[in-house]
Amino acid sequence: MVKLHLLIPPGFAHQLADLFFSIYSSAIGNKKPPEWNSVHWKNLYFPNPLSPAGGVDKSAKHLKAWWALGAGFIEVGTVTPLPQKKNPGSTLKRNIKEQALWNHLGFPGEGLEKVQKRLKELQDFHPTPIFANIGKNRNTQNEKAEEDYIQCISSLYPYVDAFVINISSPNTKGLGELAQPKRLKTLLQAIFKALHSTEKNKKPFFIKWSPDLKEDEFLQSLDIALECGAEGHIICNTSTQREINNIFPNYGGISGAPLANISKKRLKLTNKHLGIERKNQLLISVGGILKPEDVFERLNMGADLVQTYSALVFQGPFFLQKVFQYQTKTAKPDK
Ligand SMILES: Cc1cc2nc3c(=O)[nH]c(=O)nc-3n(C[C@H](O)[C@H](O)[C@H](O)COP(=O)(O)O)c2cc1C
Repeated sequence: MVKLHLLIPPGFAHQLADLFFSIYSSAIGNKKPPEWNSVHWKNLYFPNPLSPAGGVDKSAKHLKAWWALGAGFIEVGTVTPLPQKKNPGSTLKRNIKEQALWNHLGFPGEGLEKVQKRLKELQDFHPTPIFANIGKNRNTQNEKAEEDYIQCISSLYPYVDAFVINISSPNTKGLGELAQPKRLKTLLQAIFKALHSTEKNKKPFFIKWSPDLKEDEFLQSLDIALECGAEGHIICNTSTQREINNIFPNYGGISGAPLANISKKRLKLTNKHLGIERKNQLLISVGGILKPEDVFERLNMGADLVQTYSALVFQGPFFLQKVFQYQTKTAKPDK
C-alpha cells in the first residue's frame, strides 16, 4: 500500500508532522502508554521497552503525543545550550525503496531554555522515564565542549531521569573527536563531577555511540566510559560509511535498513565486552529497526530497550502501536 505521507518531500513532511503532533498533543490529554515487556532498571520503570530515537523530539514539544502513541520512554534532544538552525543546504533525504534516510541537520533546536520550560510543565505527568540527549553548539570549540554539556546537565537535572551524552553525530564538526579515548576521559570526568557535585539522588548518564569508530577504538572508549561512570549505551547513531549505501551525498549520516547489520553487530560486541559489568548497564539498540519483528530480534539479542527513527518515517507515528498489537497477537498464553 502506498503511504501518502511518503509522497510529500521530506522537509515538508517534517513540518506537517510537527503540525500533526501539536494538534494531537493538545487533543489527547494525559494518556499513559501500554505496558508490555516492561523493564525495571535501578530505580527506573519502563512500561514497555520501545521509544522514538534521539532527534525525533528535539525540543521536547510532543512528549504527551508520544506517550499516547505508546512510547515506553522518551529521549528528548539532542539539546544544545543555545538555539540553533539546521546546517545550510540540503539536510534530509529518504530512499523509500532502500528504506534508508540521510540527514545533515546538525542539532537544530530551540535551545536549553525552551526545553527546560517544557519539561518543567510535565513534572506532574511523567508516566515514563525521560532522557535528555545533550550536545554542544556548533560554534563551541571542542576544547570548551565540557561547558556546553555541563550547562545542559545543570538546567535539566531536576526534570529528567538520565542524560545521554551525544558524541556521535557526524553533522557537528569535530564532535566525533570527543569519543577518542583520551579526549573522552576528560569529558566524562567533568560530566561525572557535575552529576555528583551536589545532589544525593544521582542520575545516570549514558553514551550514544557512533557505528563508525573502529572496533578496537570503540572497545577502548567503552572501557573508559565504564571507568568514568557511564551506566548505559545507545548503539548506534547514524553512519558515514558509504559501503553500506552510496545513493546519498558523501557527507551526513545514514539511518534505516542499511544500518541494521552494523547496529546488530555492535550490540553483540558490546554485550559480550561488558562481561560482568553487563548486569549494571542499560543497553539500548537503535538502527534499522523497521518492522515489529525487528524490535523482538534486538530484545532477544540482549538489548534492554530499543528505539527507532526510520520506522516512524516509513511506517508513520503509529508504528509504536503496531508493535504493541504485534506483541499482543504473538504473546504466549499464560500456562
Ligand atoms: C533526521 C534525523 C535526525 C536525527 N537527529 C538526532 C539527534 O538530534 N540526536 C541523536 O542522538 N540522534 C539523532 N538521529 C539518529 C537517530 O536517533 C538514530 O540513532 C539513527 O537514525 C538510527 O536509527 P534508525 O535506523 O531507526 O533511523 C537522527 C536521525 C535522523 C534520521
